[in-house]
Amino acid sequence: MKERMKEYCAAVEEYLNGCFAEPAPQQTLLDSMRYSLLAGGKRIRPVLVLEFCRVCGGDWKKALPFAAALEMIHTYSLIHDDLPCMDNDDYRRGRLTNHKVYGEACAVLAGDGLLTAAFGTALKAELPAQALVDAVRVLSACAGEDGMVGGQILDLEGEQKILAAGQIHLIHKLKTGALILAGCQLGVIAAGGTAEQLEAARRYASGIGLAFQLRDDILDVTGDAAKLGKKTGMDVNKNTFIKLYGLDRCEEMVKEETDAAVAALSAFADSAFLTELAAFLAGRDY
Ligand code: IPE
Ligand code: IPE
Ligand code: MG
Ligand code: MG
Ligand code: MG
Repeated sequence: MKERMKEYCAAVEEYLNGCFAEPAPQQTLLDSMRYSLLAGGKRIRPVLVLEFCRVCGGDWKKALPFAAALEMIHTYSLIHDDLPCMDNDDYRRGRLTNHKVYGEACAVLAGDGLLTAAFGTALKAELPAQALVDAVRVLSACAGEDGMVGGQILDLEGEQKILAAGQIHLIHKLKTGALILAGCQLGVIAAGGTAEQLEAARRYASGIGLAFQLRDDILDVTGDAAKLGKKTGMDVNKNTFIKLYGLDRCEEMVKEETDAAVAALSAFADSAFLTELAAFLAGRDY
């Protein structure tokens, strides 16, 4: 897995590095977009796009615009998530948050710029028109009010409240699961995969998506800020499964969700990478 992961990440970095790179009068905006976009990050969502494309028999290089588009949307979500009016965080990806460097107005605009550019970027893929249409539909659905943005408002409204398990589940599914779901589906779409493969990709995404946010919440309690590149102990007012069930039960849930994700992979002939990726994400410490 390591070799292929490296190859994918290098291709994604190279693609992203070419974005917003032309000097322009609105240079401050471009600088702030690139500041967050090129700050590293695990690039999990783009990797999902590329690998699902490959396991469905596609040429993963052709899916790079979809992968980059999704990473732009994810990065925008982080910039806005860190704003003082939201989670009010000072560190992200090992550096000061966007608004700490460029100011709040520019950080809002950098997010707007990344979200909007994502759609144009996806459309650069040299793939059949139907694939482009399907990709834009998935990006829009997963990023918007029924996806990530919807989850973010529920997350904020849930602060200082006690929520039931079903409500926390929904928040995780939307705020984090939706963009992971987008990644898995975009890969299948890029390859022109079957309806059955799309359904299996969705089931895998559902498991790793929940496990991913559970691990994120666990790491807010037990993690090392230097490794994470963001502060820990920031979720004191948040509604998490940790508060509801405690750390031990949450560790079990990560395992259950990861197992469920891996079970969905029987629809693919070559699922070793995705199996390892699920295990890596379940056990990650950054
Ligand atoms: C952080 O996502 C936000 C969540 C959805 C939990 P990642 O942990 O993927 O952040 P980066 O991209 O690696 O910085
Ligand atoms: C992130 O949830 C969800 C997003 C859409 C960005 P968190 O607020 O828990 O993510 P971190 O911990 O700040 O990375
Ligand atoms: Mg948040
Ligand atoms: Mg946050
Ligand atoms: Mg968090």
